[in-house]
This record gives sequence, C-alpha cells and structure tokens, in this order.
Amino acid sequence: MLTLTWHGHACFTIEAEGRRVIIDPFLTGNPAADIGLDKLPKIDAVLLSHGHGDHLGDTLAIAKRDRPTIISTFELASFCEAHGAVVHKMHLGGAREFPWGRVKLVPAFHGGAIDGDDAGRYPVTPCGLVVTMGGKTVYHTGDTSLTMEMRLLEGRIDVMLVPIGDNYTMGIEDAVRAVDFVKPQIAIPMHFNTWDVIKADPQEFRRQVGGRADVVVLQPGQSLKHS
Ligand code: NI
Ligand code: MN
Repeated sequence: MLTLTWHGHACFTIEAEGRRVIIDPFLTGNPAADIGLDKLPKIDAVLLSHGHGDHLGDTLAIAKRDRPTIISTFELASFCEAHGAVVHKMHLGGAREFPWGRVKLVPAFHGGAIDGDDAGRYPVTPCGLVVTMGGKTVYHTGDTSLTMEMRLLEGRIDVMLVPIGDNYTMGIEDAVRAVDFVKPQIAIPMHFNTWDVIKADPQEFRRQVGGRADVVVLQPGQSLKHS
C-alpha cells in the first residue's frame, strides 16, 4: 500500500512503510502549492525529472534540512552534489533498488537547462520516473510530449501522473493518448492551472479518458491511498 499526495503542479509525495519520497519539490513560489517548505514532513529521498525551476524547486533547501538522497540523471544529480547534496546518479533506462523502494528513469521529450546553473555546466536530459513503493508502481512522466516510448510501459504501471496543461507539455488530447499507450489502472492529471498559460479542465480529461483508466482528480493537499 502507498499514499500519494499532490502538492500542486508536478510535486507529489509518496509514502509507504514509514518512508517518504518527494518528486519535483516545487513549493516555494508555486501558486498552487498547498503547503510551504516549513510544513513539509521529513523526506528520505528527492526524485527529479529535470532542472527547470518549477521542478527543481526547493530541492537544495530540503537537501540541507533533511539530508535525503537526491536521485536524478547523472548531470542534474552532479549539479545538486556540487551544491552540497547527498546524491545518487542514474540515467535513462537504469533502475535501482533503494531502502524505501525502486526507481527507474525513462525517456521524456523536453528541454533541460538547470535553474541556477548560470554557466550552463550541467546540460540535462529530462526524464520520467517509474517508482515502486509499497508494492505499487507509479509513473511520473515529467514534462514531456507524447512519445512512442510510453508504449514500453504498457501494463507495468498502477498509477500514472500525467500533465494536461498543454503549452509546455502534453495537453488533454495527447494526455488521453498517453493513458491509452500506458494503460495504467489509475491516471492523475498534473501540471495544469498553476498559471493561466497552462489552464485546463481535469473533468474534460476524465471524460475523454472514459473507460481506459480510473481518473482521480486531486486537489492540492489531497491524497490517494492505493493497495
Ligand atoms: Ni520543464
Ligand atoms: Mn514544468
């Protein structure tokens, strides 16, 4: 069993068996966040899809506060290491067992400059994250367009976290196709309504997904328990 909580935009915590990881911890400056960093409970690991500011977010502050392991692509993890974080470096296609669960990095089609890397020393390949905790597997697509690579995950995912906001990522039309590619049991929309430029109606996404998956529309601060 795992508990998945949305904190607005692309930020989720996943808890199982007393361990807690956070994905793309954008709380400070996130107009959609339900909590600030001060209310975030202790974190065992930070998982990053890419280095844009709305994903890297509070990573370095959490690194300083809780000393979690920061897990991402080699280059982005190296950037965090250079800023004093404890890191584990991985890359696309690679999986790894950690004391709290398993992570696999998968392709995402997006840009890659790291917020705060003003010299451009750490170019990054964005990724998606496949995270197994408490016996369930969650796929956080990261910021991505629709890709054929998603088909490789068909039948392997319990919960898919999928952007619907358009403009920077998939919009509803392609997000529905992505759900069709992956065939998760549950799909949760993300990366929408944070700003006007990514305004989208999650109920319209639910209607278009139809019988392909159970769409769970969370509000920031709400959780899904899945067993
Ligand atoms: Ni991005
Ligand atoms: Mn983004």
